[in-house]
Amino acid sequence: MKQEQIIIFDTTLRDGEQSPGAAMTKEEKIRIARQLEKLGVNVIEAGFAAASPGDFDAIQEIARIIKNSTVCSLARASENDVRRAGEAIQPAMMHDEKNGRIHTFIATSKIHMENKLRMTEDQVVERAVQAVKWALEYTDDVEFSAEDAVRSEMDFLIRIFDAVIKAGATTINVPDTVGYSIPAPWGERMRELIARVPNSDKVVWSTHCHNDLGMAVANSLAAVMGGARQVECTINGLGERAGNASLEEIVMAIKTRNDVFNLTTRIDTTQIVPTSKLVSTITGYPVQPNKAIVGANAFAHESGIHQDGVLKHRETYEIMRAEDVGWGANKLTLGKLSGRNAFRTRLKELGIELDTEDLLNATFARFKTLADKKSEIFDEDLHALVSDEFISEATEHFKLVYLQVASITGEVPHAIITLSENGVESRAESDGGGPVDAAFKAIETMVQSGAELQLYSVNNITSGTDAQGEVTVRLSKGGRIVNGQGADTDIVVASVKAYLNALNKIQSKSERAHPQV
Ligand code: KIV
Ligand code: ZN
Repeated sequence: MKQEQIIIFDTTLRDGEQSPGAAMTKEEKIRIARQLEKLGVNVIEAGFAAASPGDFDAIQEIARIIKNSTVCSLARASENDVRRAGEAIQPAMMHDEKNGRIHTFIATSKIHMENKLRMTEDQVVERAVQAVKWALEYTDDVEFSAEDAVRSEMDFLIRIFDAVIKAGATTINVPDTVGYSIPAPWGERMRELIARVPNSDKVVWSTHCHNDLGMAVANSLAAVMGGARQVECTINGLGERAGNASLEEIVMAIKTRNDVFNLTTRIDTTQIVPTSKLVSTITGYPVQPNKAIVGANAFAHESGIHQDGVLKHRETYEIMRAEDVGWGANKLTLGKLSGRNAFRTRLKELGIELDTEDLLNATFARFKTLADKKSEIFDEDLHALVSDEFISEATEHFKLVYLQVASITGEVPHAIITLSENGVESRAESDGGGPVDAAFKAIETMVQSGAELQLYSVNNITSGTDAQGEVTVRLSKGGRIVNGQGADTDIVVASVKAYLNALNKIQSKSERAHPQV
């Protein structure tokens, strides 16, 4: 018998983007959206259209490009938000499948209604119904979420869900906004809602869990066992605070424990690791090595007993195959002798379209420089290269012109840097605890940003000592947090690029509204 399919609703580009410093540019969002389509997610929540003109444009462009996944925009239950969302998803409504969705929400817990919204229950229900009706003017595919459902009263949830279903909502999402639940009661809550809400069989029930107690995936799966048929999740579990439920863990749990779930998804699991790497490269959020499925150690057997077992019979210690989730899929693609056409073709296969010949030429020049330093160029290298090119195209207030670092045993590391600020060059030098520290201090003597360094991390993009180092620098200033990224085979250069990228973001001051505020 054909198994029922779970709808995978990916919100990396919306809830994931709400992680501190993870805000993405339009081009970055488009690259991730293309990869999510390749991965096979059913719904891509591309952003929150009312948040900023940039987010609106990104959703609109994604809605135009993506044909095999539904493209969705979030909207608070206000007329302006819903209409902005409706306009943003309009291009998706021109496709044959009319695959555009509006996702509207309002808080339903007493604590949110009284203290945040300052609205009565009646007003909240009225607003929710109105929002669904506004949304239906743009699409038949309307999702309603009861924010903070985990702390909402069951009778009120039943009342509001009944009302929005009557108004025409087609998906009902039950979020654990604050990551408060634990699996058994969460599964039970879903089961009770489906049993008690009138016409519950006319809609798809969905779950959306945050990971504050480390149980987002377990809670989502419990909701599935309670009858949910859509799961909202993000790549690498990216998301506010402790993040959202991680897509890769949910998909692989459903697949690996098919004996328990008896359900399927339409995810091409071999695309999981490439998607994880792309999201990590673009957001600057590294994946911890021991992260399930996508961590570098997820399939590494260290102990002798395990290695012996795996060699004799793989399934003694492996419940999944590394290649089934895309490990080892990083193709050796290009080398020093590859030409412009091969370069362009491979980028296209990776879902990267460079709009102008100038951009292609500049990126190709970077590729040639890299190929001189590194004999084998992998897909991950190409992603980092393109990210670097977009960064320098978009936000170059500060630009690295020259860097010299001396790191000699027994001597204090020293850096000399020339920067250009809006085209005007200046030079500074500094000692430091190490070459990176010296370089950052030299930059600060010129820039005097007043920003606080919150995080500095280096990851190698591929293996080998000639690999590119990918550096993330997180700076905070006046309550704003930004992540900067840089990649280079020289990690001091990569670090300086990342630092300048973060400074450029602080400089650009582009702000987005937050949906929950
Ligand atoms: O966590 C949450 O409640 C949300 C809603 C907007 C669905 O992200
Ligand atoms: Zn959320």
